[in-house]
Amino acid sequence: MKKLFIVANWKSNKTQEEAKEWFGQIATLLPRDVGEKELILCVPASLFSVCKESINKLNLPIQLGAQDVSPFENGPYTGAISATMLAEFVTHVLIGHSERRINFHEDDEMLFKKVLQAKQAGLTPIYLVQGKDTPIPDGVDIVGYEPVAAIGSGNPDTPENVIAVAHAIKENKKIPYVLYGGSVNGENVHTFTSLEGIHGVIPGNASLDPHKLAAILINA
Ligand code: PGA
Repeated sequence: MKKLFIVANWKSNKTQEEAKEWFGQIATLLPRDVGEKELILCVPASLFSVCKESINKLNLPIQLGAQDVSPFENGPYTGAISATMLAEFVTHVLIGHSERRINFHEDDEMLFKKVLQAKQAGLTPIYLVQGKDTPIPDGVDIVGYEPVAAIGSGNPDTPENVIAVAHAIKENKKIPYVLYGGSVNGENVHTFTSLEGIHGVIPGNASLDPHKLAAILINA
């Protein structure tokens, strides 16, 4: 069986209480043995502590990820959370999501600096691209292909397109793992995870509901 990454992206959602409730529910839904599937939950920084506590307390097969990282080291960068700070809580970090590129004006130069910071702190970057021509920095092992039109729209990309983009990404750069994101749910997940050259999915909306995320993990 090939290795699969299920990278859940909560985006800017949930209070601490809601997060605790989510963990209480997912604990009853996840299989104890997830085999070759790695579940990585990317949450807002305000929830790192409570999520880490819940994962440990409930002994869940979930790794924690961040949704952003500062392009700078520790220092006079008001509001920024550095990679070394993140590393106290998480193992992975999303970099290059279209919502950050569009709403926070993050460009390739800044995103490449973020990858550098993440790697120096020992974090695994999950680098998100919007198409086959999005530049990818060196040293990235996990790339997520997320076409903007497919995000949150209920209209996922076609398997043919996903295969073609994954192929192009791997041809340009030696990327071991390419994932797909954009309106993934429990019903369509296997269509994507069964594709050659695809090693997982990035559910956003669906990951907010523990039942839906558990279905994605089980059906992947
Ligand atoms: P979606 O989001 O599953 O809600 O389409 C995916 C993402 O933005 O990572």
